[in-house]
Amino acid sequence: MSIVKLARPEIQALHAYDAAEQVDDTIRLNANESPRDCSIGNFRRPLNRYPEVRPQKLQHALAQRFGCMPDQLLVTRGSSEAIDLVIRTFCRAGQDSVLMTSPSFSMYRHYAEVQGARLIQVQSDAEQDFAIDVNAILAACDDTTRVIFVCSPNNPTGTTLPRAELERLLEQRGEHSAVVVDEAYVEFGNHASVIEMLHRYSNLLVLRTLSKALGFAGARCGAVAGQADVVSMLSAVQAPYALATPVVECVEDALQDDQLELARRTVREISSERDRLAKALTHYSFVLKVWPSDANFLLVRFANADRIMRRCAERNVLLRDFGGELANCIRISIGSQDENNQLLRTLDTLEDEANG
Ligand SMILES: Cc1ncc(COP(=O)(O)O)c(C=O)c1O
Repeated sequence: MSIVKLARPEIQALHAYDAAEQVDDTIRLNANESPRDCSIGNFRRPLNRYPEVRPQKLQHALAQRFGCMPDQLLVTRGSSEAIDLVIRTFCRAGQDSVLMTSPSFSMYRHYAEVQGARLIQVQSDAEQDFAIDVNAILAACDDTTRVIFVCSPNNPTGTTLPRAELERLLEQRGEHSAVVVDEAYVEFGNHASVIEMLHRYSNLLVLRTLSKALGFAGARCGAVAGQADVVSMLSAVQAPYALATPVVECVEDALQDDQLELARRTVREISSERDRLAKALTHYSFVLKVWPSDANFLLVRFANADRIMRRCAERNVLLRDFGGELANCIRISIGSQDENNQLLRTLDTLEDEANG
Protein backbone atom coordinates (compact mmCIF):
# COMPACT_ATOMS: atom_id res chain seq x y z
CA MET A 1 0.00 0.00 0.00
CA SER A 2 1.36 3.40 -0.95
CA ILE A 3 0.08 6.91 -1.46
CA VAL A 4 2.37 7.39 -4.48
CA LYS A 5 -0.64 6.81 -6.73
CA LEU A 6 -2.41 9.74 -5.02
CA ALA A 7 0.18 12.11 -6.49
CA ARG A 8 -0.37 14.14 -9.65
CA PRO A 9 0.08 11.75 -12.63
CA GLU A 10 2.81 13.94 -14.15
CA ILE A 11 4.74 13.83 -10.86
CA GLN A 12 4.41 10.03 -10.64
CA ALA A 13 5.99 9.94 -14.08
CA LEU A 14 8.66 12.54 -13.29
CA HIS A 15 12.29 11.44 -13.26
CA ALA A 16 14.79 12.94 -10.86
CA TYR A 17 17.05 15.58 -12.44
CA ASP A 18 20.00 13.91 -14.13
CA ALA A 19 22.85 15.78 -12.44
CA ALA A 20 26.50 15.71 -13.49
CA GLU A 21 28.43 12.91 -11.81
CA GLN A 22 30.44 13.95 -8.74
CA VAL A 23 33.48 11.84 -7.90
CA ASP A 24 36.31 12.99 -5.62
CA ASP A 25 39.85 13.25 -7.00
CA THR A 26 38.80 13.39 -10.63
CA ILE A 27 39.23 16.09 -13.25
CA ARG A 28 35.75 17.56 -13.33
CA LEU A 29 34.99 18.91 -16.76
CA ASN A 30 31.35 17.85 -16.72
CA ALA A 31 29.38 20.58 -14.88
CA ASN A 32 30.50 23.94 -16.27
CA GLU A 33 32.02 24.88 -12.91
CA SER A 34 34.98 27.21 -12.40
CA PRO A 35 38.33 25.42 -11.97
CA ARG A 36 39.40 28.08 -9.46
CA ASP A 37 38.42 27.50 -5.85
CA CYS A 38 37.17 30.85 -4.67
CA SER A 39 36.13 29.69 -1.16
CA ILE A 40 36.13 32.44 1.41
CA GLY A 41 36.33 31.00 4.92
CA ASN A 42 37.00 27.46 6.05
CA PHE A 43 34.74 25.22 4.06
CA ARG A 44 35.55 21.53 3.88
CA ARG A 45 34.23 21.37 0.33
CA PRO A 46 35.36 23.87 -2.33
CA LEU A 47 32.76 26.46 -3.28
CA ASN A 48 33.58 26.43 -6.98
CA ARG A 49 31.98 22.97 -7.09
CA TYR A 50 28.26 22.31 -6.94
CA PRO A 51 27.12 20.83 -3.65
CA GLU A 52 25.87 17.24 -3.67
CA VAL A 53 22.52 16.96 -5.42
CA ARG A 54 21.21 15.65 -2.06
CA PRO A 55 23.48 16.01 1.00
CA GLN A 56 23.97 12.37 1.95
CA LYS A 57 25.97 12.69 5.14
CA LEU A 58 23.49 15.22 6.46
CA GLN A 59 20.57 13.05 5.39
CA HIS A 60 22.01 10.11 7.37
CA ALA A 61 22.74 12.28 10.41
CA LEU A 62 19.25 13.81 10.45
CA ALA A 63 17.58 10.44 9.87
CA GLN A 64 19.45 9.07 12.85
CA ARG A 65 18.52 12.07 14.94
CA PHE A 66 14.84 11.98 14.00
CA GLY A 67 14.53 8.18 14.17
CA CYS A 68 13.93 6.94 10.64
CA MET A 69 15.88 5.31 7.82
CA PRO A 70 17.92 7.62 5.55
CA ASP A 71 15.80 6.75 2.51
CA GLN A 72 12.70 7.83 4.46
CA LEU A 73 14.00 11.39 4.81
CA LEU A 74 14.44 14.33 2.44
CA VAL A 75 16.47 17.31 3.66
CA THR A 76 14.76 20.57 2.70
CA ARG A 77 15.34 24.33 2.84
CA GLY A 78 13.48 24.71 6.10
CA SER A 79 10.30 22.75 6.62
CA SER A 80 8.56 25.54 4.66
CA GLU A 81 10.00 24.05 1.47
CA ALA A 82 8.66 20.62 2.47
CA ILE A 83 5.14 22.08 2.78
CA ASP A 84 5.44 23.45 -0.75
CA LEU A 85 6.85 20.18 -2.13
CA VAL A 86 4.08 18.07 -0.62
CA ILE A 87 1.32 20.30 -1.97
CA ARG A 88 2.88 20.55 -5.44
CA THR A 89 3.38 16.78 -5.55
CA PHE A 90 -0.13 15.76 -4.57
CA CYS A 91 -2.48 18.54 -5.66
CA ARG A 92 -3.63 19.24 -9.21
CA ALA A 93 -4.38 22.95 -9.63
CA GLY A 94 -8.08 23.69 -9.72
CA GLN A 95 -9.02 20.11 -8.81
CA ASP A 96 -7.58 18.89 -5.52
CA SER A 97 -7.83 20.26 -2.02
CA VAL A 98 -5.66 20.77 1.04
CA LEU A 99 -7.20 20.57 4.50
CA MET A 100 -5.86 22.47 7.48
CA THR A 101 -7.19 23.22 10.93
CA SER A 102 -7.73 26.82 11.90
CA PRO A 103 -6.12 28.66 13.53
CA SER A 104 -2.84 27.14 12.38
CA PHE A 105 0.35 27.93 10.48
CA SER A 106 -0.47 30.22 7.55
CA MET A 107 2.09 28.67 5.16
CA TYR A 108 -0.27 25.74 4.47
CA ARG A 109 -2.78 28.19 3.04
CA HIS A 110 -0.05 30.16 1.26
CA TYR A 111 1.36 27.21 -0.65
CA ALA A 112 -2.12 25.82 -1.38
CA GLU A 113 -2.91 29.17 -3.00
CA VAL A 114 0.36 29.17 -4.94
CA GLN A 115 -0.51 25.73 -6.35
CA GLY A 116 -4.14 26.62 -7.05
CA ALA A 117 -5.38 23.92 -4.67
CA ARG A 118 -8.67 24.48 -2.86
CA LEU A 119 -8.33 25.05 0.87
CA ILE A 120 -10.63 23.38 3.39
CA GLN A 121 -10.38 24.82 6.88
CA VAL A 122 -11.62 23.07 10.01
CA GLN A 123 -12.17 25.38 12.91
CA SER A 124 -10.93 24.48 16.38
CA ASP A 125 -12.65 25.99 19.36
CA ALA A 126 -11.02 28.40 21.84
CA GLU A 127 -13.41 27.14 24.52
CA GLN A 128 -12.01 23.61 24.01
CA ASP A 129 -8.43 24.93 24.25
CA PHE A 130 -8.20 24.60 20.46
CA ALA A 131 -8.22 20.79 20.63
CA ILE A 132 -7.86 19.41 17.10
CA ASP A 133 -11.17 17.76 16.23
CA VAL A 134 -10.54 14.62 14.17
CA ASN A 135 -14.28 13.97 13.66
CA ALA A 136 -14.64 17.45 12.16
CA ILE A 137 -11.60 16.86 9.92
CA LEU A 138 -13.02 13.55 8.69
CA ALA A 139 -16.42 15.12 8.05
CA ALA A 140 -14.83 17.99 6.07
CA CYS A 141 -12.77 15.74 3.77
CA ASP A 142 -14.11 14.99 0.32
CA ASP A 143 -12.92 13.02 -2.69
CA THR A 144 -10.54 15.81 -3.67
CA THR A 145 -8.71 16.03 -0.32
CA ARG A 146 -5.18 14.93 -1.09
CA VAL A 147 -3.28 16.50 1.81
CA ILE A 148 -4.25 17.09 5.45
CA PHE A 149 -1.98 19.25 7.59
CA VAL A 150 -1.95 18.62 11.31
CA CYS A 151 0.38 20.98 13.13
CA SER A 152 1.26 19.34 16.45
CA PRO A 153 2.14 21.17 18.65
CA ASN A 154 0.07 23.69 16.75
CA ASN A 155 1.23 27.19 15.87
CA PRO A 156 -0.18 29.50 17.29
CA THR A 157 -2.21 27.59 19.89
CA GLY A 158 0.46 25.26 21.35
CA THR A 159 -1.93 22.26 21.25
CA THR A 160 -0.74 18.66 20.65
CA LEU A 161 -2.99 16.14 18.91
CA PRO A 162 -3.20 12.97 21.06
CA ARG A 163 -1.56 10.02 19.34
CA ALA A 164 -4.70 7.85 19.42
CA GLU A 165 -6.61 10.59 17.58
CA LEU A 166 -3.87 10.87 14.96
CA GLU A 167 -4.00 7.10 14.45
CA ARG A 168 -7.76 7.31 13.94
CA LEU A 169 -7.23 10.01 11.30
CA LEU A 170 -4.50 8.01 9.54
CA GLU A 171 -6.61 4.86 9.54
CA GLN A 172 -9.80 6.53 8.36
CA ARG A 173 -8.15 8.42 5.50
CA GLY A 174 -6.01 5.42 4.48
CA GLU A 175 -4.93 5.79 0.86
CA HIS A 176 -7.20 8.77 0.23
CA SER A 177 -5.06 11.52 1.79
CA ALA A 178 -1.49 12.16 2.84
CA VAL A 179 -1.60 13.20 6.50
CA VAL A 180 1.26 15.62 7.19
CA VAL A 181 2.16 16.06 10.86
CA ASP A 182 4.17 19.24 11.28
CA GLU A 183 6.39 18.78 14.33
CA ALA A 184 8.23 22.10 14.18
CA TYR A 185 7.82 22.53 17.95
CA VAL A 186 7.83 18.91 19.16
CA GLU A 187 11.00 19.28 21.26
CA PHE A 188 9.34 21.81 23.56
CA GLY A 189 6.53 19.51 24.77
CA ASN A 190 6.41 16.18 26.56
CA HIS A 191 5.16 14.13 23.63
CA ALA A 192 7.42 11.94 21.51
CA SER A 193 7.70 12.45 17.75
CA VAL A 194 5.29 10.36 15.69
CA ILE A 195 8.06 9.50 13.21
CA GLU A 196 8.24 6.01 14.70
CA MET A 197 4.72 5.41 13.31
CA LEU A 198 6.00 5.60 9.71
CA HIS A 199 6.34 1.85 9.39
CA ARG A 200 2.66 1.41 10.27
CA TYR A 201 1.05 4.18 8.21
CA SER A 202 1.92 4.59 4.55
CA ASN A 203 -0.05 7.87 4.36
CA LEU A 204 1.93 9.57 7.16
CA LEU A 205 4.44 12.33 6.43
CA VAL A 206 6.29 14.12 9.22
CA LEU A 207 7.90 17.56 9.00
CA ARG A 208 10.83 18.51 11.22
CA THR A 209 12.87 21.70 11.36
CA LEU A 210 16.19 22.90 12.71
CA SER A 211 14.80 26.44 13.06
CA LYS A 212 13.28 26.14 16.53
CA ALA A 213 14.79 23.84 19.20
CA LEU A 214 18.14 23.61 17.43
CA GLY A 215 18.28 27.36 16.92
CA PHE A 216 19.33 27.34 13.25
CA ALA A 217 16.55 29.31 11.60
CA GLY A 218 19.15 31.28 9.64
CA ALA A 219 20.58 28.12 8.07
CA ARG A 220 17.21 27.21 6.47
CA CYS A 221 17.22 23.49 7.05
CA GLY A 222 14.36 21.10 7.72
CA ALA A 223 13.18 17.70 6.58
CA VAL A 224 10.20 15.65 5.52
CA ALA A 225 9.99 11.99 6.51
CA GLY A 226 7.70 9.38 4.95
CA GLN A 227 7.68 6.04 3.15
CA ALA A 228 10.76 5.71 0.92
CA ASP A 229 8.77 5.68 -2.35
CA VAL A 230 6.94 8.88 -1.39
CA VAL A 231 10.16 10.57 -0.28
CA SER A 232 11.83 9.67 -3.53
CA MET A 233 8.93 11.28 -5.43
CA LEU A 234 9.21 14.45 -3.32
CA SER A 235 12.94 14.45 -4.03
CA ALA A 236 12.27 14.43 -7.77
CA VAL A 237 10.18 17.59 -7.35
CA GLN A 238 12.79 19.40 -5.22
CA ALA A 239 15.36 21.56 -7.03
CA PRO A 240 18.70 19.83 -7.58
CA TYR A 241 21.51 21.15 -5.34
CA ALA A 242 18.83 22.61 -3.05
CA LEU A 243 21.08 22.82 0.00
CA ALA A 244 24.11 25.12 -0.36
CA THR A 245 27.54 23.90 0.74
CA PRO A 246 27.90 26.45 3.61
CA VAL A 247 24.49 25.41 4.95
CA VAL A 248 25.24 21.69 4.74
CA GLU A 249 28.56 22.11 6.55
CA CYS A 250 27.07 24.41 9.16
CA VAL A 251 24.26 21.95 9.93
CA GLU A 252 26.66 18.99 10.01
CA ASP A 253 28.56 20.90 12.70
CA ALA A 254 25.34 21.74 14.51
CA LEU A 255 24.65 18.02 14.90
CA GLN A 256 27.83 17.34 16.88
CA ASP A 257 27.23 16.10 20.45
CA ASP A 258 28.35 19.30 22.17
CA GLN A 259 26.03 21.43 20.02
CA LEU A 260 23.13 19.07 20.62
CA GLU A 261 23.74 19.21 24.36
CA LEU A 262 23.67 23.04 24.18
CA ALA A 263 20.42 22.88 22.24
CA ARG A 264 18.86 20.52 24.79
CA ARG A 265 19.85 22.91 27.59
CA THR A 266 18.31 25.85 25.72
CA VAL A 267 15.08 23.90 25.22
CA ARG A 268 14.94 23.20 28.98
CA GLU A 269 15.53 26.89 29.72
CA ILE A 270 12.87 28.00 27.24
CA SER A 271 10.35 25.51 28.64
CA SER A 272 10.95 26.71 32.19
CA GLU A 273 10.78 30.38 31.08
CA ARG A 274 7.50 29.57 29.30
CA ASP A 275 6.04 28.22 32.54
CA ARG A 276 7.33 31.22 34.52
CA LEU A 277 5.92 33.67 31.99
CA ALA A 278 2.56 31.88 31.83
CA LYS A 279 2.23 32.17 35.59
CA ALA A 280 3.38 35.80 35.71
CA LEU A 281 0.95 36.80 32.96
CA THR A 282 -2.09 35.57 34.88
CA HIS A 283 -1.48 38.29 37.50
CA TYR A 284 -2.30 41.17 35.15
CA SER A 285 -5.84 42.47 35.28
CA PHE A 286 -5.96 42.79 31.46
CA VAL A 287 -4.90 39.20 30.75
CA LEU A 288 -8.06 37.19 30.11
CA LYS A 289 -6.59 33.80 29.19
CA VAL A 290 -3.22 32.10 28.84
CA TRP A 291 -3.57 28.85 26.91
CA PRO A 292 -1.44 25.84 27.86
CA SER A 293 1.42 25.40 25.38
CA ASP A 294 3.69 22.54 24.28
CA ALA A 295 5.74 24.97 22.15
CA ASN A 296 8.18 27.87 22.53
CA PHE A 297 5.41 30.46 22.64
CA LEU A 298 2.26 31.32 24.56
CA LEU A 299 -1.07 32.34 23.13
CA VAL A 300 -2.67 34.96 25.35
CA ARG A 301 -6.03 36.74 25.18
CA PHE A 302 -5.92 40.33 26.40
CA ALA A 303 -8.72 42.77 27.17
CA ASN A 304 -6.85 45.37 25.11
CA ALA A 305 -4.51 43.69 22.63
CA ASP A 306 -4.01 46.82 20.50
CA ARG A 307 -2.78 48.77 23.47
CA ILE A 308 -0.43 45.97 24.52
CA MET A 309 1.00 45.77 20.98
CA ARG A 310 1.52 49.54 20.85
CA ARG A 311 3.18 49.82 24.26
CA CYS A 312 5.45 46.85 23.59
CA ALA A 313 6.46 48.27 20.21
CA GLU A 314 7.33 51.61 21.89
CA ARG A 315 9.65 49.64 24.18
CA ASN A 316 11.19 47.69 21.30
CA VAL A 317 9.41 44.45 22.16
CA LEU A 318 7.77 42.83 19.13
CA LEU A 319 4.84 40.45 19.57
CA ARG A 320 2.49 38.83 17.06
CA ASP A 321 -1.21 39.69 17.08
CA PHE A 322 -4.02 38.11 15.09
CA GLY A 323 -7.42 39.09 13.79
CA GLY A 324 -10.59 37.11 13.11
CA GLU A 325 -11.16 34.16 15.39
CA LEU A 326 -8.09 35.20 17.41
CA ALA A 327 -9.09 38.84 17.88
CA ASN A 328 -7.45 40.25 21.00
CA CYS A 329 -5.04 37.31 21.11
CA ILE A 330 -1.29 37.77 21.02
CA ARG A 331 1.35 35.10 20.48
CA ILE A 332 4.40 35.66 22.64
CA SER A 333 7.57 33.79 21.64
CA ILE A 334 9.62 32.83 24.68
CA GLY A 335 12.86 34.80 24.70
CA SER A 336 15.83 34.81 27.06
CA GLN A 337 15.19 35.50 30.73
CA ASP A 338 16.23 39.15 30.23
CA GLU A 339 13.99 39.58 27.21
CA ASN A 340 11.03 38.06 29.03
CA ASN A 341 11.67 40.32 32.02
CA GLN A 342 11.71 43.31 29.69
CA LEU A 343 8.28 42.24 28.44
CA LEU A 344 6.95 41.88 32.00
CA ARG A 345 8.32 45.33 32.96
CA THR A 346 6.52 46.80 29.97
CA LEU A 347 3.26 45.12 31.00
CA ASP A 348 3.82 46.42 34.56
CA THR A 349 3.67 49.99 33.21
CA LEU A 350 0.23 49.26 31.75
CA GLU A 351 -0.96 47.67 34.98
CA ASP A 352 0.24 50.71 36.97
CA GLU A 353 -1.73 53.00 34.64
CA ALA A 354 -4.82 50.78 34.95
CA ASN A 355 -4.59 51.06 38.72
CA GLY A 356 -4.41 54.84 38.37
C1 LIG B 1 4.34 25.06 12.43
C2 LIG B 1 5.48 25.52 11.61
N1 LIG B 1 5.90 24.73 10.62
C3 LIG B 1 6.92 25.10 9.84
C4 LIG B 1 7.56 26.30 10.04
C5 LIG B 1 8.64 26.68 9.08
O1 LIG B 1 9.85 26.54 9.64
P1 LIG B 1 11.19 26.49 8.76
O2 LIG B 1 10.84 26.75 7.35
O3 LIG B 1 12.04 27.55 9.34
O4 LIG B 1 11.71 25.12 8.99
C6 LIG B 1 7.16 27.15 11.06
C7 LIG B 1 7.82 28.44 11.28
O5 LIG B 1 7.44 29.28 12.04
C8 LIG B 1 6.07 26.75 11.87
O6 LIG B 1 5.61 27.51 12.86
